[in-house]
Amino acid sequence: MARRPLVKNFTKGACCGHPSFHIEPLGIFPDPMSEPTVAPAATDAKPSVEMVNVQVDGVWMKFPKGMRMIKALEEAAKVIPHYCYHPKLSSPGNCRMCLVEMGMPSRPAPGQSEPEKDEHGFAKIQWIPRPAISCANTISEGMGIRTASTMVEEVRKGVMEFLLINHPLDCPICDQAGECRLQEFSVGFGRGQSRFQDEKVHKPKNQDIGARIVLDDERCIMCSRCVRFSSEIADEDVLGFTERGSQTVLTTHPGQRLDHNYSLNTVDICPVGALTSKDFRFQMRVWFLKETPSVCTGCARGCNTEIGSREGVIYRQTPRQNDDVNSTWMCDQGRLDFHWVNSDRRLIDPMLKDGAHHRTTTWPQAVSAVADKLRGLRGDQIAIIGSGRMTNEELFMLKKLAAALKTESLDIVPRTGAADNYLVSADRNPNTAGAGLIFCDRPGSTLATIRQKVASGEIKAVIAWRENLLEQAGFTVEELSQLEVLVAAHVMANAMAELAHVVLPTAAWSEKRGSMINATGRLQRLNKASEPPGNARDDWEVLRDLTQALTGTNGLYLVEDVFKSMATEIPELGGLSLGKIGEAGLPLLPSSEVIPLLHREADRKTRGIIVG
Ligand code: SF4
Ligand code: SF4
Ligand code: FES
Repeated sequence: MARRPLVKNFTKGACCGHPSFHIEPLGIFPDPMSEPTVAPAATDAKPSVEMVNVQVDGVWMKFPKGMRMIKALEEAAKVIPHYCYHPKLSSPGNCRMCLVEMGMPSRPAPGQSEPEKDEHGFAKIQWIPRPAISCANTISEGMGIRTASTMVEEVRKGVMEFLLINHPLDCPICDQAGECRLQEFSVGFGRGQSRFQDEKVHKPKNQDIGARIVLDDERCIMCSRCVRFSSEIADEDVLGFTERGSQTVLTTHPGQRLDHNYSLNTVDICPVGALTSKDFRFQMRVWFLKETPSVCTGCARGCNTEIGSREGVIYRQTPRQNDDVNSTWMCDQGRLDFHWVNSDRRLIDPMLKDGAHHRTTTWPQAVSAVADKLRGLRGDQIAIIGSGRMTNEELFMLKKLAAALKTESLDIVPRTGAADNYLVSADRNPNTAGAGLIFCDRPGSTLATIRQKVASGEIKAVIAWRENLLEQAGFTVEELSQLEVLVAAHVMANAMAELAHVVLPTAAWSEKRGSMINATGRLQRLNKASEPPGNARDDWEVLRDLTQALTGTNGLYLVEDVFKSMATEIPELGGLSLGKIGEAGLPLLPSSEVIPLLHREADRKTRGIIVG
């Protein structure tokens, strides 16, 4: 889980897992720590799950029976500091930060048939003189919870003091500063000063425990989130604790490394700076980052992400919670697949081939050059090869271009790999489903025919969009060299662009707004985190200009208008707009695909092992 969803756990308050559930506050009372005076309102509502009455800080509310206390309190908009609890992991209850004061309904006194009632008709609460952890206990009928009493404040101060005793307090040089729960809870719930006068225990620092992870044991508060993630979610039981008492340290099991393809999720869920990403550490202070919600384009899963950028440079990509797509996780491969966006191998100017070399040109000249070269050819002499990495809007404009050129040779390049048992899809194109919806029944199925026609000389012009045909599509240098016209629209300099008569620099996924459809048929939206470099442009605009140059018609001016245009032509998109897709996406196409990680998560939730 990313660090941000941890914050959402405190504030979001709408993911209790009971679709029909809603909190029913039975009254508002100005002082939450006073005895309740507001009577419960009668209700005719017929909840689909059994509800119980719980008094939270003096206000009676209804929650589904069996709900964890911390979840109920979250739904009641109470901030409960916690470290070891994570809704997607089991709850060992080992950090003690989530302590609350708890009471149970009193029993009838000897000789009485009913317990003494309060003014609202509920049995009076007998408060237990010891705090209870809220992450592993469940609510029950008539229970009382206090989250801000003197006892709760004192025990939180005590827990914070213990947690900080051996913590190095190296916040100024710690990579977690700015999103560290120890910092935040220390300010919010701590004592404000330390009474500890002895030498702190010193533990190993800068330990290389995995290909992408560094461990600083001095900062570890032994919440065991990373241990549980590795064994419960990633099925790689490589982490554990050794030694005892204040000497306890987190370590990898002998001969093991934290190297699995989901290892960086442990960095996200580590509440302190004990686990840091080799890729991101010391690169940028997190408070400088602009966070843009988007989608990973590494495969057809379409994991929801947040792109962290500053001044046009991407520094990190973290998972964003979507329980219909990726839960709160993502694979390392997809997460780190962004450095090429900042690369100096990006194409930044349109180019025309001039003899053996290319010379840079302006966009109007490049567009005219393409139109001029293609005008003399028949439709059946032209092929357009697009990409499953293009957005729906771009694929739609590609189809318009094909119509303007009167060619039916239009397809994308398939891209496959091995699926894993978690999130990674065998389809490595993020938008194969979009291509299928917009212009072909079986994306990639006509590519071999196109290649044959190129080899035989029947096809004389190829427009290759966002694909290096020498790498993925199996074309040879000889085949591409014999073409009368080769147009290469791409983000990176590559061997095919070397052969192209016209090179058009376009935008990376993080530099555009648009939509894609993932392997389970979910329509999702990409948002622009940064601008394309140099004179590179958004793909749909270049496709529009090319179509305009060929047809003389006026074009579209906003990517939102492209979507609107699609929605009028494609029934499945009817009534939708880019804005309506929202940050969580929408189910659009039927799919029987099961996401292994989510399937197991649902099972664990049903069995009560996890909360969210
Ligand atoms: S390294 Fe972080 S996540 Fe792991 S036990 Fe320590 S504090 Fe918790
Ligand atoms: S599973 Fe696929 S979409 Fe998700 S992070 Fe990995 S590569 Fe990206
Ligand atoms: S969150 Fe750690 S004990 Fe409850």
